[in-house]
Amino acid sequence: MEQIETRPVQQADRDAVRRVAAAAFGDEGPVIAELIDLLHATGRVEHELVAEPGGAVVGHVLLSRGWVDAPERLAPVLVLGPLSVDPTAQRAGVGSALVHAALAQAQAAGEAAVFLEGDPGYYGRLGFEPAGEAGFERPSTRIPEPAFQVVTLAAFEPWMSGRLVYCDAFWELDCVGLRGEHLADVEAALGIGSPTDG
Ligand SMILES: CC(C)(COP(=O)(O)OP(=O)(O)OC[C@H]1O[C@@H](n2cnc3c(N)ncnc32)[C@H](O)[C@@H]1OP(=O)(O)O)[C@@H](O)C(=O)NCCC(=O)NCCS
Repeated sequence: MEQIETRPVQQADRDAVRRVAAAAFGDEGPVIAELIDLLHATGRVEHELVAEPGGAVVGHVLLSRGWVDAPERLAPVLVLGPLSVDPTAQRAGVGSALVHAALAQAQAAGEAAVFLEGDPGYYGRLGFEPAGEAGFERPSTRIPEPAFQVVTLAAFEPWMSGRLVYCDAFWELDCVGLRGEHLADVEAALGIGSPTDG
């Protein structure tokens, strides 16, 4: 497959980024677009990339500041998301290229780890592993355990273990984990039961 280039987001891309996120996330599109704006407004965006393989922006990824609440002190880490690829451009390697580029930026910046919540079938192929098995705790039990994933980078040190803490914007817009039927559907697809089930 042809190499898909990515580049840092510029101010002129803001509308295109909102459009791509809204198109990729369907019903959740408006809140995801709002999340991107709030992460910017609160100064929590660390890295942000777009892909425009045909000359127009069709993919976007954002890395925000988070922390691992380790016993010794807070360890700064990154949270990957949202990741959006316009439906017309999906399954052509755009999402993978954005994730690879985001991880390379995080590594180059000396970050310790990148966390996300997402489908392990997709992100496992991109180098992520189950974060629970690696010794981290989920920020919410509404994130199915297999969906809570991490890549540790060269700067990671063993003391940095504990619960992942998201920045405020995710909580303010209720963008942490899943609720209701959506949570039940994803847990069923992953073959696990809800902790509240008897
Ligand atoms: C998930 C998403 C970013 C993938 O982008 P993409 O550019 O289509 O991904 P790639 O082309 O790099 O990879 C496509 C491959 O991943 C697979 N894939 C896509 N979404 C997947 C998912 N949720 N779970 C498992 N595999 C998935 C495809 O089947 C395809 O595999 P194949 O080519 O072997 O059939 C895109 O589908 C999207 O924007 N979805 C809506 C928003 C979203 O769910 N974002 C991620 C959560 S934060």
